[in-house]
Amino acid sequence: MPIAVSNAPAPAAEDTDVSFKKKFSERSTPPPELPPFVYASRFDHPSFGDWRDELATKGYTVVKAIPTERALEYRERAFQWLESFPLGFDRNDVSTWKNEHLPVHVKGGMFHGYGYCHEQLLWDLRCEDGVIDAFAKVWGTDELITSFDGGSIMLPKRVDVMDSGKWEHMDQSHHRKGFYCCQGLVNLNYNGPEDGGLMVLEGSSELVEEHFDHFGRHAYKSWGPFDWYGFTEEEQQWFFDRGCKWVKVCAEPGDLILWDSRTMHYNVRPKGDRDRVCTYICMAPAHLLTEDDRKLRVECFESSKGTTHVPFAAIFAREFEPVVRSDGKPCPHDTGKPKNPPVLNERIEKLVGIKPY
Ligand SMILES: [Fe+2]
Repeated sequence: MPIAVSNAPAPAAEDTDVSFKKKFSERSTPPPELPPFVYASRFDHPSFGDWRDELATKGYTVVKAIPTERALEYRERAFQWLESFPLGFDRNDVSTWKNEHLPVHVKGGMFHGYGYCHEQLLWDLRCEDGVIDAFAKVWGTDELITSFDGGSIMLPKRVDVMDSGKWEHMDQSHHRKGFYCCQGLVNLNYNGPEDGGLMVLEGSSELVEEHFDHFGRHAYKSWGPFDWYGFTEEEQQWFFDRGCKWVKVCAEPGDLILWDSRTMHYNVRPKGDRDRVCTYICMAPAHLLTEDDRKLRVECFESSKGTTHVPFAAIFAREFEPVVRSDGKPCPHDTGKPKNPPVLNERIEKLVGIKPY
């Protein structure tokens, strides 16, 4: 998968799978020169008096962003998208909940191909007032740009999904210091302890810098993006010894789960009877964007390329290459274009960077 990476401060990412793992490598590159980041100390001494304090101390929080009924309508649209492929998937027939009847995905249901990152469905979610308002509080400005990330539709009772391991990671380079990015996940179904979803190592974001002071910052361990770091079991034990515990984040339809990109995390598939549907959204201040990166973002939008999470620097653009089915052949249904392209409006233009604030 050829990747376009911008030159600015450094690259970013989401969860991965076997196909990505093949690309994983540990690179002993010298630490890059990183500029001081203007928001680095934003969550060092939290006294916001709201959920941002929990984001700062625990490394994650849950915010109501979309009314429940509307969130469930989004879930319905996600299933309609799945059923729109001529592969035989039927949400009412569990015998069709298999790879052969589904568009190609990773980790039991994460979709980035098929132009999904730019479906109208995903853009409608990015344009939700409650989502934008939450990120505006995180950063202290409502002049935001958004990532072009994908989403998950994880069906329960899957029997043909290979276990690709946990992949405990953070989506921030260990060369960075302080706060750099806040990631988001819009949850679109009831999501309890057995329903799959996000696992976070509570308290890890506050300890990350001390951790790398202890272990060193030598290697660049990533499946591609600069802003990704996979932790070894020995490294995880260091956090456990300091009281950090894994927590399964539960949420209602329409909740936005936010986490500091320094928080160690991974995802789990559903163990119960309920499907897990969510979309990954990350927003950041538009003023952080360089002109070169703004042009890259506009090019990504116009050509329906997805990105990983960081929207403002070291942008990791997913170049189009048809996803590969289990027979090793490119999926003929992956044109790289969304089935329902977004209808452009001023909010989208600003969230992309086409139009300035
Ligand atoms: Fe991640």
